[in-house]
Amino acid sequence: MSALTLAPLSRDAGEQVRHLDLRDEQSLFVAPIDQMLAEPTQGVDFHVIRDTAAIVGFFKIDPPGISTFTWVAPDEIGLRGLLIGAQYQGRGHGRAFAAALPAYLAACYTAPRATLAVDEANPVARRLYLAGGWQDSGERIDTRAGPAHIMRLDLAALR
Ligand SMILES: CC(C)(COP(=O)(O)OP(=O)(O)OC[C@H]1O[C@@H](n2cnc3c(N)ncnc32)[C@H](O)[C@@H]1OP(=O)(O)O)[C@@H](O)C(=O)NCCC(=O)NCCS
Repeated sequence: MSALTLAPLSRDAGEQVRHLDLRDEQSLFVAPIDQMLAEPTQGVDFHVIRDTAAIVGFFKIDPPGISTFTWVAPDEIGLRGLLIGAQYQGRGHGRAFAAALPAYLAACYTAPRATLAVDEANPVARRLYLAGGWQDSGERIDTRAGPAHIMRLDLAALR
């Protein structure tokens, strides 16, 4: 598995991640990086995924009370916009990210749980989250990519 570190990215440091490419067929699952960096909601946190040589990925966290999604409870954090750059995919970074994420989130945020929605049409991402300790809540929502599964990660148990 690749050795990765996760770190916050300040909202004015977007240039550090603009090189992250998105495959056309994956644009149903996340927006291109320029669009993700233009996040309109105040208070959303950016984070980067680094390997030893480069920043290979990006994700966003909605801190408690910030998410506009009805399936994220006010005391939960929401994970969105996970992207391993297309040029870095298939090298184990996604799997290493999923393994590192629970401890990182538990250290950065005091929320009891993290929540995300993953499209049924994106089994690679869904398997990553399951391997990283996320649980399928059984709730389903509809997105532009079809049905999506709501998954939750228990952070309180990690502290
Ligand atoms: C999903 C994503 C994060 C995976 O990142 P990655 O670095 O390519 O993943 P890895 O190299 O660690 O591969 C993870 C597993 O999926 C498998 N996999 C990777 N790409 C695959 C593909 N296109 N088809 C089938 N299996 C694939 C790998 O073989 C590996 O399996 P293993 O753990 O059993 O060995 C990445 O593809 C991505 O950023 N996609 C676009 C955005 C997205 O979908 N985000 C998720 C939104 S919820």
